[in-house]
Amino acid sequence: MYVETTEPLTPDEILQQLQALVQGDPDGIACLANAAAILFLHVPEISWVGFYLQRGEDLVLGPFQGKPACTRIGPGRGVCGTSFTRGETLVVEDVNRFPGHIACDAASRSEVVVPLRVGGRAIGVLDCDAPTVARFGAEERALFERAAGIVGSWLEASGASV
Ligand code: SME
Repeated sequence: MYVETTEPLTPDEILQQLQALVQGDPDGIACLANAAAILFLHVPEISWVGFYLQRGEDLVLGPFQGKPACTRIGPGRGVCGTSFTRGETLVVEDVNRFPGHIACDAASRSEVVVPLRVGGRAIGVLDCDAPTVARFGAEERALFERAAGIVGSWLEASGASV
């Protein structure tokens, strides 16, 4: 059961809350919206978190928390497009040193992007930005990969589309 708290949570506790939230309604957008909200609320020192979803060849902005962001990312463009095309997590210590990084927010300094898979097929990415260099390490990588796994498994199990 989801219990609202503003106390600092461990990664396991954040993921337990995410699991409880996604089971709340059989709608894919509602799932992604609350997933972004719970991560933004409980992962410290981040400035933006949300989803880009495959629409034709592009990735298009989905549910997120943070400042308004770029709405459309072309194939293989930026950190998000690169992660999606390669089908692998990208952890970028310093976005200014990532060729082709798309600066939606000039204050963003580091980023982690994880493919969102449903039944083995990538349908988008989970993207998170931070205002400090090297914010994301092995622990955060695991957290976001597990979060995308929870969302993707639920989308597959429920048959919800996004
Ligand atoms: N920086 C991303 C674009 C999305 S924003 O960070 C929200 C990229 O290079 O793909």
